[in-house]
Amino acid sequence: MHHLLLLTPLILALQAASMFILVPLYLYPGRSASAWSNVTAAIKAYPQVQWQVIINPGDGPNITTCPTDTDYIYAISSMNSHANVMTLGYVDTAFANRAYSLVVQDINTYASWWNCNEQGYNVSIDGIFFDDVNNTASSSVFTYMQNAANYAYSQVPSDVTPVVFNPGALAPTQLFSYCSTMIQFENVYSLYNNATTIKTIPSAYRGQSAILVTNTLETTAPIGSLVHTMAYYGIEAVYFTPDENPSAYHTFDLDLLEQIAAAVAAG
Ligand SMILES: *[C@@H]1O[C@H](CO)[C@@H](O)[C@H](O)[C@H]1NC(C)=O
Ligand SMILES: *[C@@H]1O[C@H](CO)[C@@H](O)[C@H](O)[C@H]1NC(C)=O
Ligand SMILES: *[C@@H]1O[C@H](CO)[C@@H](O)[C@H](O)[C@H]1NC(C)=O
Ligand SMILES: *[C@@H]1O[C@H](CO)[C@@H](O)[C@H](O)[C@H]1NC(C)=O
Ligand SMILES: *[C@@H]1O[C@H](CO)[C@@H](O)[C@H](O)[C@H]1NC(C)=O
Repeated sequence: MHHLLLLTPLILALQAASMFILVPLYLYPGRSASAWSNVTAAIKAYPQVQWQVIINPGDGPNITTCPTDTDYIYAISSMNSHANVMTLGYVDTAFANRAYSLVVQDINTYASWWNCNEQGYNVSIDGIFFDDVNNTASSSVFTYMQNAANYAYSQVPSDVTPVVFNPGALAPTQLFSYCSTMIQFENVYSLYNNATTIKTIPSAYRGQSAILVTNTLETTAPIGSLVHTMAYYGIEAVYFTPDENPSAYHTFDLDLLEQIAAAVAAG
């Protein structure tokens, strides 16, 4: 009994410290989710690692009804079959310039997919990923993002509804109170400077911060060391891609995905 009591805080501390992998899976899945097969293989190979996977049929759900594209229906359903995955629906905010009613419409669509599960398919979406978040400290931005996030939390009927904001750069700390995770760096590898970059994020917010490094040369990038340093400083989520342009995140290389997952698993 004493052993258990002593071990419990340690186990909790280790769990709190483990990062998740945030995958911008904007790519069309193809037949039988073939284009997603490397992501799925890495997810299966690392069941102890948590993954959040962003689904983006067309800068948003692309429709206002249940999914009609059979490739997407199959692919989302297979993704939902993995216990270590949460799916996020992509919603654009266009730096708080997009009509708020359209943001609401996209959230309503993803939330409604919980009622679209037929013929053994499960297209439920766990949370919402807000892209192009304006990182200006202004009350109009705060109101827009607070309303959007609260709407997502209230409508998506998931046990845990993750809400991710992507300003892609440092955000005013006020914005952190509305979301679960904030992407604080989405930029090229040559501008990622390990602990120096991490330390630009105020320490109190690192546990809610994600780092997404683009233009990564997988053969030479010391993924293990970089991820270990993120974990050491308490960063919440990570991703590395060889692609540079977010509108063309289309390379999902198994070797790189496994390097990231192995590093996250190692802590
Ligand atoms: C997007 O919507 C268009 C028109 O409604 C439809 O033809 C197309 O199949 C949809 N694409 C996806 C990926 O759902
Ligand atoms: C469908 O997927 C959602 C989201 O991952 C999950 O919470 C839910 O339990 C799944 N439903 C079934 C019936 O497996
Ligand atoms: C971000 O919000 C500020 C304040 O409302 C606005 O002035 C600025 O134009 C917005 N940024 C972009 C890129 O639209
Ligand atoms: C990253 O920084 C940490 C801590 O300063 C250091 O131990 C590690 O070697 C660095 N890794 C790389 C690849 O520069
Ligand atoms: C999967 O990753 C391998 C390299 O690890 C790559 O050669 C292949 O093209 C990738 N396949 C897909 C469908 O992304």
